[in-house]
Amino acid sequence: MKKLILATLFLASSILANDTDNNSECLCLKVDKAMAKELKALIKKYNGKVISVSKNTQEQKKFEAKQKLTKSISIGEKLYKSNCQECHGEDATKESYGTSRALTSLTRDQFKDALWGYSNDEYNRGMAILMKPIADQLIDEDQDKIYEYIQTLK
Ligand code: HEC
Repeated sequence: MKKLILATLFLASSILANDTDNNSECLCLKVDKAMAKELKALIKKYNGKVISVSKNTQEQKKFEAKQKLTKSISIGEKLYKSNCQECHGEDATKESYGTSRALTSLTRDQFKDALWGYSNDEYNRGMAILMKPIADQLIDEDQDKIYEYIQTLK
């Protein structure tokens, strides 16, 4: 019986997964008529309730979070390559104008504080005048996306 419930949960969550994304794997079970009837009844009984605590739903959440990050990184890459790379280098380690540190060496907080600092005239290592107009154009989300892309260059 325990085995049967597990099979059902997996089946049910893979149906859910298919609803939300096209890349997920489809699990097909070949069962006899009686078993199919039982499975159907179990899915009906546990649908919604059990799915929310099953291991597979957690895996689905992890999978979705990973997909979100991948998307974020690819937007960050475009933003970095067209707005930052010229001064900070292909691998984000260039000490731009001798004043910037390697962007790969910064924590997320250091990276974002510097950018907000340039916008608010509160951060300057000597050449802030070059960064201010750039920082002024970046919204919070863009900063994160660029930061996430930079982490992939390490
Ligand atoms: C025109 C050249 C140029 C471009 C383009 C440029 N930067 Fe900079 N960046 C600099 C310079 C020069 C500094 C050092 C400024 C200073 O003296 O404070 C700097 C500093 C920084 C710092 C702080 C580094 C530290 O050591 O604290 C961050 C973060 C940063 N830039 C991010 C970016 C991002 C993100 C982009 C693209 C959206 C970008 N920069 C585009 C020249 C540039």
